[in-house]
Amino acid sequence: MDKILVQGGRQLQGTVQVSGAKNAALPILVSALLCDGLNTFTNVPILRDIQSTLQLLAHLGVRCSMEGHTVQVDASGLNNDEAPYDLVRKMRASILVLGPLVARLKKARVSLPGGCAIGARPINLHLHGLELLGARIDLSHGYVEAVCEQLRGAEIYFDMVTVTGTENIMMAAVLAQGTTVLRNAACEPEVKALADVLKQMGARIHGAGTPEIVIHGVERLHPVSAAIIPDRIETGTLMTAAALTQGDVTIQSAEPEHLEAVIHKLRLAGAQIDVSGSQIRVQGQRPIQSVDIKTLPYPGFPTDMQAQFMVLMAVAQGSSLISETIFENRFIHVSELQRMGADITVTGNSALIKGVARLSGAPVMATDLRASACLILAGLVSDNTTEVNRVYHLDRGYEALEAKFQQLGAAIRRVKA
Ligand code: EPU
Repeated sequence: MDKILVQGGRQLQGTVQVSGAKNAALPILVSALLCDGLNTFTNVPILRDIQSTLQLLAHLGVRCSMEGHTVQVDASGLNNDEAPYDLVRKMRASILVLGPLVARLKKARVSLPGGCAIGARPINLHLHGLELLGARIDLSHGYVEAVCEQLRGAEIYFDMVTVTGTENIMMAAVLAQGTTVLRNAACEPEVKALADVLKQMGARIHGAGTPEIVIHGVERLHPVSAAIIPDRIETGTLMTAAALTQGDVTIQSAEPEHLEAVIHKLRLAGAQIDVSGSQIRVQGQRPIQSVDIKTLPYPGFPTDMQAQFMVLMAVAQGSSLISETIFENRFIHVSELQRMGADITVTGNSALIKGVARLSGAPVMATDLRASACLILAGLVSDNTTEVNRVYHLDRGYEALEAKFQQLGAAIRRVKA
């Protein structure tokens, strides 16, 4: 298994380009299931999760190809309604095929994704939404089986804000008969990006990006060409690394509007941030100030940035409190940070972080995608060498992160297994 070695102590300097958003690309690639014909998507990040999605689509009978950052998907040959365990277990977001398959084929059989390192992650709200649209749902042998004669518009209230749940039901509802209203829908930019692509395909959707989304079903959709939005979590990770190393980094091709909470908190932590169009310049200042954060659905502070921000707080002046309200087990990086000398106490869903003068490099183990990024960030400000193991998590969701850090002057390299 590959590992990443980081020699700490360098200030990051220079310019870097952000990649397309994984969590926008996944549902958008899947949305191609909703129409016949050749869709072209550009700015798709080159990631393991993208490969897994294309593998799954190919299994369903969809023609897919990827050249550089351009992906072509043609679902004219869609002939299979089953997403098997072997493909779904690699990537939970595979559940996104459920809504489109039921809408297109009137039936689907999708393996239940199960929990993962960060929490139980049930899909009850996806299933409840589909039931309200008229699908009959049966759970057996580890699979969800959904069938319907015709999906019909419905009023659906989500008990919790769910990103992929909102996306799944929105994709089912675009081909349902009549009007669907989604209440307490996720407002994440990735939901809006999906809605924009669906609208380009001919769907009638209003209000995406707000908690109430209204969808008037249409009979059919047509293929499109569309670009994937910039990855706000990759951008936030690079910004945090710049602040952490007292560097001076300019991030290009970003969408600053999607990062208001992160920019606000980084400024409170003392970083100077200048935004100009799609460019964000971050200049880290000493000392780093302690700032409390609480993860929330968008536009709140993203849970996907919590682990990276914790590293910043680990070397800040004073104490900070980080509360995680989205996932019940998203502090798994804490024990690895403690091994690197961080002073962190976890009580329930809160972590009290007392800043220390320095972290100390150690062999550490990544347990999920954002935890891997967090450990690399910790390595950037540690004495000696940090060896981050199990980096396949990182490869699921960050395109060439170590190459980007190298470009910014970090002493970081990948050791191939
Ligand atoms: N939830 C339920 N029932 C459901 C659905 C969700 O109880 O039917 C709960 C979850 O267990 C969780 C909360 O609702 O406690 C929010 O989960 P959500 O459904 O919003 O998460 P998701 O859609 O599975 C997406 C991202 C995650 C990101 C979360 C939160 C994708 C492919 N994944 O997951 O990204 O953390 O939203 O913003 O969009 C990552 O990229 O590292 C990642 C984990």
